[in-house]
Amino acid sequence: VTRDIAIDLGTASTLAAVPGREIVVNEPTVVAMERVTARVVAVGRESWKAAAADPERVQVSWPFRNAPVSDFAVTERIIATVLKRASAPRITKPRALFSVPSAATEVERRALEEAAFAAGVRDVWMIGEPLAAALGAGLPIGEPRGSCVVDVGGAATEVAVISMGGVVAQHHVRVGGFDMDDLVQRLLRREYGMAVGERTAEGIKTQIGSASPLEEEVKAEVKGREIDTGAPKSIIITSEEVRAALSDAVRIIVEAVRQVLSETPPELAHDVLDNGITLCGGGGRLQGLGERIRLETSIPVRVTDRPGETVALGALKALGSLDAMAAAGIVWRRSA
Ligand SMILES: Nc1ncnc2c1ncn2[C@@H]1O[C@H](COP(=O)(O)OP(=O)(O)OP(=O)(O)O)[C@@H](O)[C@H]1O
Ligand SMILES: [Mg+2]
Repeated sequence: VTRDIAIDLGTASTLAAVPGREIVVNEPTVVAMERVTARVVAVGRESWKAAAADPERVQVSWPFRNAPVSDFAVTERIIATVLKRASAPRITKPRALFSVPSAATEVERRALEEAAFAAGVRDVWMIGEPLAAALGAGLPIGEPRGSCVVDVGGAATEVAVISMGGVVAQHHVRVGGFDMDDLVQRLLRREYGMAVGERTAEGIKTQIGSASPLEEEVKAEVKGREIDTGAPKSIIITSEEVRAALSDAVRIIVEAVRQVLSETPPELAHDVLDNGITLCGGGGRLQGLGERIRLETSIPVRVTDRPGETVALGALKALGSLDAMAAAGIVWRRSA
Protein backbone atom coordinates (compact mmCIF):
# COMPACT_ATOMS: atom_id res chain seq x y z
CA VAL A 1 0.00 0.00 0.00
CA THR A 2 1.02 3.57 -0.66
CA ARG A 3 1.13 5.84 2.34
CA ASP A 4 3.20 8.77 1.15
CA ILE A 5 2.35 10.68 -1.99
CA ALA A 6 3.53 13.90 -3.62
CA ILE A 7 0.85 15.76 -5.59
CA ASP A 8 1.24 18.64 -8.05
CA LEU A 9 -2.26 19.90 -8.75
CA GLY A 10 -1.49 22.28 -11.60
CA THR A 11 -3.87 24.36 -13.69
CA ALA A 12 -3.01 22.28 -16.76
CA SER A 13 -1.72 18.97 -15.42
CA THR A 14 -2.18 16.88 -12.32
CA LEU A 15 0.76 14.73 -11.27
CA ALA A 16 1.33 12.36 -8.42
CA ALA A 17 4.52 10.57 -7.42
CA VAL A 18 5.18 7.95 -4.77
CA PRO A 19 8.45 6.68 -3.31
CA GLY A 20 9.93 3.83 -5.33
CA ARG A 21 7.52 4.25 -8.22
CA GLU A 22 8.15 7.85 -9.26
CA ILE A 23 5.37 9.44 -11.33
CA VAL A 24 2.21 7.35 -11.04
CA VAL A 25 -0.35 9.87 -12.26
CA ASN A 26 0.06 12.41 -15.07
CA GLU A 27 -3.27 13.66 -16.39
CA PRO A 28 -4.68 16.90 -17.71
CA THR A 29 -6.48 18.82 -14.95
CA VAL A 30 -9.88 18.51 -16.60
CA VAL A 31 -13.21 17.26 -15.38
CA ALA A 32 -16.34 16.28 -17.25
CA MET A 33 -19.45 17.75 -15.65
CA GLU A 34 -23.14 17.46 -16.31
CA ARG A 35 -24.20 20.81 -17.70
CA VAL A 36 -27.34 21.06 -15.61
CA THR A 37 -26.33 19.57 -12.27
CA ALA A 38 -22.58 20.36 -12.32
CA ARG A 39 -22.05 16.79 -11.15
CA VAL A 40 -18.56 15.47 -11.99
CA VAL A 41 -18.82 12.38 -14.20
CA ALA A 42 -15.15 11.93 -15.13
CA VAL A 43 -11.73 13.25 -14.11
CA GLY A 44 -8.65 13.62 -16.30
CA ARG A 45 -8.12 12.28 -19.80
CA GLU A 46 -11.33 10.25 -19.81
CA SER A 47 -13.32 13.49 -19.45
CA TRP A 48 -13.08 14.08 -23.20
CA LYS A 49 -14.47 10.64 -23.89
CA ALA A 50 -17.36 11.26 -21.53
CA ALA A 51 -18.18 14.56 -23.23
CA ALA A 52 -17.81 13.14 -26.74
CA ALA A 53 -20.22 10.35 -25.85
CA ASP A 54 -22.91 12.76 -24.67
CA PRO A 55 -22.09 16.35 -25.66
CA GLU A 56 -25.60 17.62 -24.99
CA ARG A 57 -25.44 16.65 -21.36
CA VAL A 58 -21.72 16.67 -20.49
CA GLN A 59 -19.05 19.34 -20.88
CA VAL A 60 -15.33 19.42 -20.14
CA SER A 61 -13.74 22.19 -18.10
CA TRP A 62 -10.39 23.15 -16.60
CA PRO A 63 -11.50 23.90 -13.06
CA PHE A 64 -8.33 25.70 -11.91
CA ARG A 65 -7.62 27.63 -15.04
CA ASN A 66 -9.02 30.95 -13.86
CA ALA A 67 -9.18 30.49 -10.12
CA PRO A 68 -7.19 27.96 -8.11
CA VAL A 69 -9.24 25.55 -6.03
CA SER A 70 -12.39 27.56 -6.62
CA ASP A 71 -14.83 24.69 -6.40
CA PHE A 72 -14.46 22.60 -3.27
CA ALA A 73 -16.41 19.56 -4.47
CA VAL A 74 -14.48 19.41 -7.74
CA THR A 75 -11.12 19.74 -5.99
CA GLU A 76 -12.03 17.02 -3.52
CA ARG A 77 -13.12 14.77 -6.37
CA ILE A 78 -9.88 15.33 -8.28
CA ILE A 79 -7.73 14.58 -5.22
CA ALA A 80 -9.76 11.47 -4.41
CA THR A 81 -9.32 10.26 -7.99
CA VAL A 82 -5.56 10.90 -7.84
CA LEU A 83 -5.30 8.93 -4.59
CA LYS A 84 -7.23 6.06 -6.11
CA ARG A 85 -5.15 5.99 -9.29
CA ALA A 86 -1.97 6.10 -7.19
CA SER A 87 -3.24 3.19 -5.06
CA ALA A 88 -3.39 5.40 -1.98
CA PRO A 89 -7.08 5.37 -1.11
CA ARG A 90 -8.55 6.66 2.16
CA ILE A 91 -8.11 3.30 3.86
CA THR A 92 -4.31 3.61 3.69
CA LYS A 93 -4.49 6.95 5.58
CA PRO A 94 -2.15 8.62 3.10
CA ARG A 95 0.20 11.44 3.93
CA ALA A 96 0.30 13.90 1.03
CA LEU A 97 2.78 16.63 0.17
CA PHE A 98 1.23 19.22 -2.16
CA SER A 99 3.24 21.70 -4.19
CA VAL A 100 1.63 25.14 -4.00
CA PRO A 101 2.28 28.27 -6.05
CA SER A 102 4.11 30.90 -4.04
CA ALA A 103 1.34 33.33 -4.94
CA ALA A 104 -1.36 31.15 -3.38
CA THR A 105 -3.20 32.99 -0.62
CA GLU A 106 -3.86 31.52 2.80
CA VAL A 107 -7.53 31.16 1.84
CA GLU A 108 -6.51 29.11 -1.23
CA ARG A 109 -4.12 26.97 0.82
CA ARG A 110 -6.82 26.37 3.39
CA ALA A 111 -9.26 25.37 0.64
CA LEU A 112 -6.74 22.90 -0.79
CA GLU A 113 -6.08 21.49 2.66
CA GLU A 114 -9.79 21.05 3.43
CA ALA A 115 -10.40 19.37 0.08
CA ALA A 116 -7.48 17.02 0.71
CA PHE A 117 -8.81 16.01 4.12
CA ALA A 118 -12.27 15.50 2.65
CA ALA A 119 -10.73 13.29 -0.06
CA GLY A 120 -9.18 11.07 2.58
CA VAL A 121 -5.69 12.46 3.13
CA ARG A 122 -4.77 12.03 6.78
CA ASP A 123 -1.81 14.33 6.92
CA VAL A 124 -1.42 17.36 4.62
CA TRP A 125 2.00 18.86 3.91
CA MET A 126 2.95 21.63 1.51
CA ILE A 127 6.02 22.83 -0.38
CA GLY A 128 6.39 26.03 -2.38
CA GLU A 129 6.57 25.40 -6.11
CA PRO A 130 9.88 27.18 -6.78
CA LEU A 131 11.65 25.07 -4.14
CA ALA A 132 10.01 21.90 -5.44
CA ALA A 133 11.11 22.84 -8.97
CA ALA A 134 14.67 23.51 -7.83
CA LEU A 135 14.81 20.20 -5.95
CA GLY A 136 13.40 18.36 -8.96
CA ALA A 137 16.01 20.00 -11.18
CA GLY A 138 18.75 18.81 -8.83
CA LEU A 139 19.88 22.32 -7.89
CA PRO A 140 21.92 22.74 -4.69
CA ILE A 141 19.15 24.57 -2.83
CA GLY A 142 20.71 24.26 0.63
CA GLU A 143 23.98 25.93 -0.32
CA PRO A 144 24.72 29.63 0.11
CA ARG A 145 24.79 29.92 -3.68
CA GLY A 146 22.08 31.47 -5.83
CA SER A 147 20.07 29.21 -8.15
CA CYS A 148 17.45 30.52 -10.55
CA VAL A 149 14.41 28.51 -11.63
CA VAL A 150 11.77 29.49 -14.16
CA ASP A 151 8.59 27.38 -14.16
CA VAL A 152 6.28 28.05 -17.10
CA GLY A 153 2.95 26.36 -16.33
CA GLY A 154 -0.51 26.53 -17.81
CA ALA A 155 -1.88 29.66 -16.18
CA ALA A 156 1.21 31.19 -14.65
CA THR A 157 4.97 31.52 -14.71
CA GLU A 158 7.00 31.58 -11.52
CA VAL A 159 10.56 32.83 -11.42
CA ALA A 160 12.65 32.50 -8.28
CA VAL A 161 16.20 32.75 -7.06
CA ILE A 162 16.89 30.34 -4.25
CA SER A 163 19.71 30.20 -1.74
CA MET A 164 20.21 28.42 1.61
CA GLY A 165 16.87 26.65 1.33
CA GLY A 166 14.86 29.82 0.86
CA VAL A 167 13.55 32.08 -1.87
CA VAL A 168 15.53 35.32 -2.02
CA ALA A 169 13.76 36.94 -4.98
CA GLN A 170 10.70 35.94 -6.93
CA HIS A 171 8.11 37.07 -9.39
CA HIS A 172 4.86 35.52 -10.48
CA VAL A 173 3.04 36.45 -13.68
CA ARG A 174 -0.32 35.16 -14.77
CA VAL A 175 0.93 34.09 -18.18
CA GLY A 176 1.53 30.50 -19.27
CA GLY A 177 0.68 27.87 -21.84
CA PHE A 178 -3.06 28.54 -21.84
CA ASP A 179 -2.41 32.14 -22.83
CA MET A 180 -0.22 30.95 -25.69
CA ASP A 181 -3.09 28.74 -26.90
CA ASP A 182 -5.38 31.79 -26.76
CA LEU A 183 -2.88 33.79 -28.81
CA VAL A 184 -2.85 31.06 -31.49
CA GLN A 185 -6.66 31.05 -31.58
CA ARG A 186 -6.68 34.82 -31.86
CA LEU A 187 -4.16 34.75 -34.72
CA LEU A 188 -6.33 32.33 -36.69
CA ARG A 189 -9.45 34.39 -36.06
CA ARG A 190 -7.82 37.69 -36.99
CA GLU A 191 -5.78 36.65 -40.02
CA TYR A 192 -7.89 33.84 -41.45
CA GLY A 193 -11.40 34.37 -40.04
CA MET A 194 -11.14 30.89 -38.72
CA ALA A 195 -12.12 29.21 -35.45
CA VAL A 196 -10.34 26.19 -33.94
CA GLY A 197 -10.77 24.44 -30.61
CA GLU A 198 -8.36 24.94 -27.74
CA ARG A 199 -6.75 21.55 -28.20
CA THR A 200 -6.06 22.27 -31.86
CA ALA A 201 -4.51 25.59 -30.86
CA GLU A 202 -2.36 23.80 -28.28
CA GLY A 203 -1.25 21.30 -30.92
CA ILE A 204 -0.14 24.11 -33.24
CA LYS A 205 1.80 25.68 -30.38
CA THR A 206 3.61 22.49 -29.38
CA GLN A 207 4.33 21.47 -32.98
CA ILE A 208 5.44 24.67 -34.65
CA GLY A 209 5.35 27.29 -31.88
CA SER A 210 8.61 28.93 -30.85
CA ALA A 211 10.14 31.83 -28.97
CA SER A 212 13.19 32.40 -31.17
CA PRO A 213 14.00 31.72 -34.84
CA LEU A 214 14.17 28.03 -35.79
CA GLU A 215 17.06 26.53 -37.71
CA GLU A 216 14.51 25.54 -40.27
CA GLU A 217 11.20 27.39 -40.27
CA VAL A 218 8.23 25.08 -40.86
CA LYS A 219 4.59 25.09 -41.91
CA ALA A 220 1.54 23.23 -40.70
CA GLU A 221 -1.92 22.60 -42.02
CA VAL A 222 -4.71 23.76 -39.71
CA LYS A 223 -8.27 22.54 -39.96
CA GLY A 224 -11.09 24.53 -38.43
CA ARG A 225 -14.19 26.32 -39.54
CA GLU A 226 -14.85 29.63 -41.16
CA ILE A 227 -16.33 32.01 -38.60
CA ASP A 228 -18.72 33.74 -41.03
CA THR A 229 -20.23 30.67 -42.64
CA GLY A 230 -19.42 27.85 -40.22
CA ALA A 231 -18.07 25.87 -43.16
CA PRO A 232 -15.01 23.63 -42.72
CA LYS A 233 -11.84 25.39 -43.69
CA SER A 234 -8.19 24.48 -43.89
CA ILE A 235 -5.16 26.74 -44.14
CA ILE A 236 -1.38 26.57 -44.02
CA ILE A 237 0.33 28.48 -41.25
CA THR A 238 4.06 29.15 -40.79
CA SER A 239 6.24 28.92 -37.69
CA GLU A 240 7.11 32.61 -38.15
CA GLU A 241 3.45 33.60 -37.88
CA VAL A 242 2.96 31.51 -34.77
CA ARG A 243 6.11 32.90 -33.17
CA ALA A 244 4.91 36.45 -33.81
CA ALA A 245 1.56 35.59 -32.23
CA LEU A 246 3.22 34.10 -29.15
CA SER A 247 5.58 36.99 -28.66
CA ASP A 248 3.28 38.89 -26.29
CA ALA A 249 3.32 35.99 -23.84
CA VAL A 250 7.02 35.30 -24.31
CA ARG A 251 7.91 38.93 -23.65
CA ILE A 252 6.08 38.89 -20.30
CA ILE A 253 7.91 35.72 -19.27
CA VAL A 254 11.29 37.18 -20.22
CA GLU A 255 10.47 40.39 -18.33
CA ALA A 256 9.63 38.39 -15.21
CA VAL A 257 13.07 36.75 -15.38
CA ARG A 258 14.80 40.09 -15.76
CA GLN A 259 12.81 41.55 -12.90
CA VAL A 260 13.86 38.78 -10.52
CA LEU A 261 17.51 39.04 -11.55
CA SER A 262 17.42 42.78 -10.93
CA GLU A 263 16.07 42.20 -7.42
CA THR A 264 18.62 39.51 -6.57
CA PRO A 265 21.50 40.52 -4.28
CA PRO A 266 24.68 40.98 -6.37
CA GLU A 267 26.68 37.98 -5.09
CA LEU A 268 23.78 35.63 -5.69
CA ALA A 269 23.11 37.19 -9.10
CA HIS A 270 26.72 36.38 -9.94
CA ASP A 271 26.14 32.75 -9.05
CA VAL A 272 23.20 32.69 -11.45
CA LEU A 273 25.41 34.21 -14.12
CA ASP A 274 27.95 31.41 -13.56
CA ASN A 275 25.56 28.50 -13.06
CA GLY A 276 22.83 29.49 -15.45
CA ILE A 277 19.04 29.59 -15.32
CA THR A 278 17.01 26.39 -15.05
CA LEU A 279 13.82 26.27 -17.08
CA CYS A 280 10.96 23.83 -16.38
CA GLY A 281 7.19 23.46 -16.53
CA GLY A 282 5.34 22.17 -19.60
CA GLY A 283 5.60 25.65 -21.11
CA GLY A 284 9.37 25.46 -20.71
CA ARG A 285 9.25 23.00 -23.62
CA LEU A 286 8.28 25.76 -26.05
CA GLN A 287 10.95 25.64 -28.75
CA GLY A 288 13.54 28.36 -28.42
CA LEU A 289 12.27 29.70 -25.09
CA GLY A 290 15.54 28.89 -23.32
CA GLU A 291 17.47 30.46 -26.19
CA ARG A 292 15.32 33.57 -26.02
CA ILE A 293 15.88 33.96 -22.27
CA ARG A 294 19.60 33.42 -22.82
CA LEU A 295 19.72 36.10 -25.51
CA GLU A 296 17.89 38.63 -23.39
CA THR A 297 19.71 38.02 -20.12
CA SER A 298 23.13 36.88 -21.39
CA ILE A 299 22.86 33.97 -18.98
CA PRO A 300 22.98 30.33 -20.13
CA VAL A 301 19.68 28.44 -19.79
CA ARG A 302 19.17 24.73 -19.24
CA VAL A 303 15.80 23.04 -19.70
CA THR A 304 15.29 20.18 -17.22
CA ASP A 305 15.12 16.62 -18.56
CA ARG A 306 11.44 16.24 -17.77
CA PRO A 307 10.13 19.79 -17.60
CA GLY A 308 6.48 18.91 -17.01
CA GLU A 309 7.39 16.56 -14.15
CA THR A 310 10.10 18.57 -12.41
CA VAL A 311 7.90 20.01 -9.66
CA ALA A 312 6.34 16.63 -8.86
CA LEU A 313 9.75 14.95 -8.81
CA GLY A 314 11.06 17.67 -6.49
CA ALA A 315 8.12 17.20 -4.14
CA LEU A 316 8.81 13.46 -4.21
CA LYS A 317 12.40 14.12 -3.23
CA ALA A 318 11.24 16.31 -0.33
CA LEU A 319 8.84 13.58 0.73
CA GLY A 320 11.81 11.26 1.13
CA SER A 321 13.26 13.35 3.96
CA LEU A 322 10.24 15.16 5.29
CA ASP A 323 11.57 15.74 8.81
CA ALA A 324 14.83 17.30 7.65
CA MET A 325 12.95 19.35 5.03
CA ALA A 326 10.52 20.55 7.69
CA ALA A 327 13.38 21.49 10.02
CA ALA A 328 14.90 23.51 7.17
CA GLY A 329 11.58 25.26 6.58
CA ILE A 330 11.27 23.89 3.05
CA VAL A 331 8.07 21.94 3.72
CA TRP A 332 5.44 22.61 6.34
CA ARG A 333 2.63 20.61 7.85
CA ARG A 334 -0.96 21.80 7.83
CA SER A 335 -2.74 20.90 11.04
CA ALA A 336 -5.78 18.64 10.82
N1 LIG B 1 6.25 21.09 -26.40
C1 LIG B 1 5.59 22.08 -25.82
N2 LIG B 1 5.70 23.36 -26.27
C2 LIG B 1 5.03 24.36 -25.71
N3 LIG B 1 4.20 24.23 -24.67
C3 LIG B 1 4.04 22.98 -24.17
C4 LIG B 1 4.71 21.87 -24.70
N4 LIG B 1 4.34 20.77 -23.99
C5 LIG B 1 3.46 21.20 -23.07
N5 LIG B 1 3.27 22.53 -23.16
C6 LIG B 1 2.36 23.37 -22.39
O1 LIG B 1 2.68 23.33 -21.02
C7 LIG B 1 1.52 23.76 -20.31
C8 LIG B 1 1.35 22.92 -19.07
O2 LIG B 1 2.48 23.01 -18.27
P1 LIG B 1 2.45 22.39 -16.81
O3 LIG B 1 1.95 21.00 -16.86
O4 LIG B 1 3.78 22.63 -16.20
O5 LIG B 1 1.34 23.33 -16.13
P2 LIG B 1 0.73 23.26 -14.68
O6 LIG B 1 1.80 22.90 -13.70
O7 LIG B 1 -0.48 22.42 -14.68
O8 LIG B 1 0.29 24.78 -14.51
P3 LIG B 1 0.53 25.79 -13.31
O9 LIG B 1 1.91 25.50 -12.78
O10 LIG B 1 0.39 27.16 -13.95
O11 LIG B 1 -0.55 25.50 -12.34
C9 LIG B 1 0.33 23.61 -21.25
O12 LIG B 1 -0.15 24.87 -21.61
C10 LIG B 1 0.94 22.88 -22.44
O13 LIG B 1 0.32 23.22 -23.65
MG1 LIG C 1 2.99 23.79 -12.36
